[in-house]
Amino acid sequence: MDLATSFMGLTLKNPIIAGSSSLTGSVEQVKTLAANGAGAVVLKSIFEEEVMHEYADFIQTAKEQYGAPQYFDYDGHRNPIEYYDYLIREENLKKYIELVETCKKTVSIPVIASINCFFFSMEWISYAVNLEQAGADALELNMFFPPTDFKHSREEKEALYFKIAEKVTQAVAIPVALKISPYFTDLGPMIQRLSKTGVKGLVLFNRFFSPDFDIDTLEVKPSFVFSTPGDLALSLRWIAVMANKVDCSLAASTGIHDGASVVKQLLAGADAVQVVSCLYKKGPKYLTDMLTDLQDWMAGKKYSCLSDFKGKLSQTRSADPAVFERAQFMRYFGGKKNVIL
Ligand SMILES: Cc1cc2nc3c(=O)[nH]c(=O)nc-3n(C[C@H](O)[C@H](O)[C@H](O)COP(=O)(O)O)c2cc1C
Repeated sequence: MDLATSFMGLTLKNPIIAGSSSLTGSVEQVKTLAANGAGAVVLKSIFEEEVMHEYADFIQTAKEQYGAPQYFDYDGHRNPIEYYDYLIREENLKKYIELVETCKKTVSIPVIASINCFFFSMEWISYAVNLEQAGADALELNMFFPPTDFKHSREEKEALYFKIAEKVTQAVAIPVALKISPYFTDLGPMIQRLSKTGVKGLVLFNRFFSPDFDIDTLEVKPSFVFSTPGDLALSLRWIAVMANKVDCSLAASTGIHDGASVVKQLLAGADAVQVVSCLYKKGPKYLTDMLTDLQDWMAGKKYSCLSDFKGKLSQTRSADPAVFERAQFMRYFGGKKNVIL
């Protein structure tokens, strides 16, 4: 049975990608994921934000000294901290380059490097070039400008996605994917426009850390780290809606916890899927179980390759396209169907 797929121009032996997380942050882990059948791996993102946290004390002192400069702004404006910041970044990047180089020497599956784009910085363009030189097969830009930012307009924030996509795709020859959130005002058209920027793939969707409350200590605490199987619904709907409407490959991410979910995303039209939470919960061997379930399902349906069924239940090929646009719950009692939709 042929499980091969093409994702952003890369040939994957199967569609299950180990998504970006701390499970893909070392060569040993990447080797284990590859040995357990991952079709590709997206390395843990290189975070400039992390640099900011690591050096929070230093930055605070410098801010006091220099009078609270804007550390970063949307124009990539710089300040006196820049020099120290540069040294820290160089170190961070050096370690990441080593990770890419060693992974490439160790595994034969595609290695996708990931850059976290939290604010605009010309730095990413040099990151992208360096990671391409290190041998990365592709880049994933983990891009998110939070809708909780009240200082910048929607237009300003949206423009950044296009600016970064354009600059990075012009700077490197390897394929670039954007991993985005669902938090856009006009999601469908936005995804479609992003697909025309020169990127070769879109990953729908990233899932973020969320705060929770401890009602005993009255503190805010990190929680909801892992997705649940029910989280599949959002990406499933949007992969199905966007399949055949974009100019690049699509990977599904969030809520894929078993072989059946992989099948569903492929039926929706995904070229590949990314899994993270289920690997945290069940370990890297679980990749093999999901691949077996996918193969068993294909055998049962007499499908011999993914193209036999990929996109079969996408909106454009669906017998009932309206079902993907239905948003409200309507309760039907009696009648022919007796269903809750
Ligand atoms: C602990 C943890 C760390 C993560 N780190 C990253 C990261 O470095 N870069 C990134 O793009 N996504 C990161 N993610 C998001 C995942 O790649 C993925 O998009 C998200 O968890 C949804 O997929 P899932 O439902 O299979 O977990 C992380 C997720 C978790 C749970």
